[in-house]
Amino acid sequence: MTKRKKSLNITGPVSEQMKCIQNLIYNYDVDTYYHCQKVAQNSVMIGQIIGLSRKRILLIYNAALIHDLGKIKLPIEVFRKKEGLTDEEWGLVKQHPQIGTDLINSLNDSSLETTIPVVLYHHEHMDGSGYPFALQGEQIPFDARIVAIADALDAMMSPRPFRDDIYSIGRALLKLINYCGTQFDEEIVHQVITWYKGKPLY
Ligand SMILES: [Fe+2]
Repeated sequence: MTKRKKSLNITGPVSEQMKCIQNLIYNYDVDTYYHCQKVAQNSVMIGQIIGLSRKRILLIYNAALIHDLGKIKLPIEVFRKKEGLTDEEWGLVKQHPQIGTDLINSLNDSSLETTIPVVLYHHEHMDGSGYPFALQGEQIPFDARIVAIADALDAMMSPRPFRDDIYSIGRALLKLINYCGTQFDEEIVHQVITWYKGKPLY
C-alpha cells in the first residue's frame, strides 16, 4: 500500500483579497462557504496523491476556496431545491462559473488570475457534456479537473437537500469510477483509488 505523504501545513496562504472574497461567500451562504473549504482540502489531498509541487497545490487550494463564488449573484433557493430544477433554473445554475470569473476580473488583482481556470471550468466534463463551454479532455485545465473530482467527493460525502444518504469514501470513490473518462479525468481518479486501497482519506 502506498503511504500517504505528510499533509501540507496550509494555515494561511490566502491574501486579504482572498479573505474578502471568502467573506462574500460566507455572507451569501454558510454551507457554500464550508463546501468550498472542503473542496479545497480535497484538492490538496488529490494534489499530494498525484505528486504535484507544494506551490502548485497552493494555487489549486486558493482557487478551490472560491470556486463557487459566482453563486453569490444567484438565488440560494435554486441551489437548495429538493426537487428537479426547471430549465430556467438550470440556466441560472450554469451561469455561476462565468459570473464568478467576471467578479474576479472586476477586481483587477493579478494575484487572482490563477484562480480563474478553476472558477470557470470546474463543471466541464471530459466527454464534453459539462458546462459552460462543453470543453473536452485536455481542453479542460488540469487544475479544474482536480477540483471537479474534489467537488464531486464533497457533494457525495455531505448532506444534500435532494438526497437522503451520505456516501462513505469507499462508495464515493466507486461512484467516481463509474464516471471515469466521461465526467472525470481517468488518470487522476485511478491514482486516487490506487492510493486509497481501503484506508480513510481523512
Ligand atoms: Fe460549482
